[in-house]
Amino acid sequence: MNIAVIGLGYLGATTAVALSLVGHDVIGIDPDQAKVDALRAGRVPFFEPGLDEALVEAQTTGRLRFQTEHIHTSVDVDVFLLCVGTPQSRTGLGADLRYLESSIDNLAPFLRANAIVVGKSTVPVGTAEKLKSRLAAHVSFEPYMSWNPEFLREGTALKDTLTPDRIVIGVDDPHSEALLRQMYEPMAAVNIPIVKVDSKTAELVKVAANSFLATKISFINAMAEISEQVGADAVLLAEAIGYDERIGNKFLKTGIGFGGGCLPKDIRAFQACAADLGLEQSVSFLAQVEDINLRRRRRVVDIAREELGDLTNRRVAMLGAAFKPETDDIRDSPAMAVAELLWAAGAHVVIHDPKAVENVRRMYPNVGVAESVAEAVAGADLVVVGTEWREYALADAWQLGALAKNKLVIDGRNILPYRQWQEAGWKVIALGRNLEHNPIEVLV
Ligand code: UDX
Repeated sequence: MNIAVIGLGYLGATTAVALSLVGHDVIGIDPDQAKVDALRAGRVPFFEPGLDEALVEAQTTGRLRFQTEHIHTSVDVDVFLLCVGTPQSRTGLGADLRYLESSIDNLAPFLRANAIVVGKSTVPVGTAEKLKSRLAAHVSFEPYMSWNPEFLREGTALKDTLTPDRIVIGVDDPHSEALLRQMYEPMAAVNIPIVKVDSKTAELVKVAANSFLATKISFINAMAEISEQVGADAVLLAEAIGYDERIGNKFLKTGIGFGGGCLPKDIRAFQACAADLGLEQSVSFLAQVEDINLRRRRRVVDIAREELGDLTNRRVAMLGAAFKPETDDIRDSPAMAVAELLWAAGAHVVIHDPKAVENVRRMYPNVGVAESVAEAVAGADLVVVGTEWREYALADAWQLGALAKNKLVIDGRNILPYRQWQEAGWKVIALGRNLEHNPIEVLV
């Protein structure tokens, strides 16, 4: 099939590569010339494991092209996939839909009557309907519009796109359903379940999934707050409840909580959407989910103060800047939020991250950045683990101990082999844990 992927961020670039790898002809479109130039040259403009190689592989098939705008060949397109961002609006909690709206306006002159337009971005329920009306105002026929949410995670984006747990197609007419089933035939052939729903349900599925995941993390972090108060251990609690198949052991890692370009903004947008529907009570718990999440970040600073007193001019090594490992994305990163709180408390924070330092330098030009863990830890009064990079779990506690001014570490992600660190003379404080009463290593 001929597919146009509009928007070439994490979602669009990965989708374009994956769909061409499974045999479709794909044009990726993004107005950012630098992004298009990089992709044409076989370089992904962000860090995503395996995607560079897959991009080059897809380009050698001749089935993947990139452009800054639609050109006459766009009239051959069967499926227009909208993969543009829906960031938080500047004026409130809701999603900003302007990129989706301009995508619709730009593609309209190239739309054939039997081509379909499919949204993939995370949106408030009812967006497909609104975009369809917008599109209808540009064309002389009734356009096809549907929603096909994407569940890919950064760090495993390509795998999640090629072999997702499920594909959700939100269609309101048989023609869109037929074309989407044809597009996903290579995935259906390897038994990936396809859940067919209407477009509104599809829009809701995505925010519901992300809200549930965020709630799971905040639930276990709430247990961490209580555990810390009474001297219990939330990591072991998570293991114990996780054996119950109804609960499951995934997404129950305690620490400084969730961040990134999706979960935080999606739970806020869902609250705004529910309020617009007069149903704020239905998801009012999401405000608490966010509160718990933000409290865990502040908890690190409270512990630092309990241990060190005034933080003015104390040197803190922040290990990690990315919102999670295997990405260079620092959007709404818990590690960076903790770093900012520590700055505000007067500390001198030095940041290390294996992949995200360029983004840190761009967004925080004045911040101290270290090239290695050792450089970050040298002379530190406190070390904080902010991102669960494997490199930190494997770090040499003795070597780092010889460099630090004060051997104090707050493990904000519960990844350190803490006994080794204790043997090397460190005082280890692990969020939500009670290492004294429960001297059990958690393997990562
Ligand atoms: C998320 C959804 O998982 C994905 O399905 C959707 O398409 C986009 O949003 P992503 O933003 O890549 O994906 O990150 P995710 O893996 O969900 O992690 C989100 C955050 O939660 C990270 O900051 C991570 O460190 C944190 N997290 C995750 C925890 O604190 N504890 C956990 O148990 C799991």
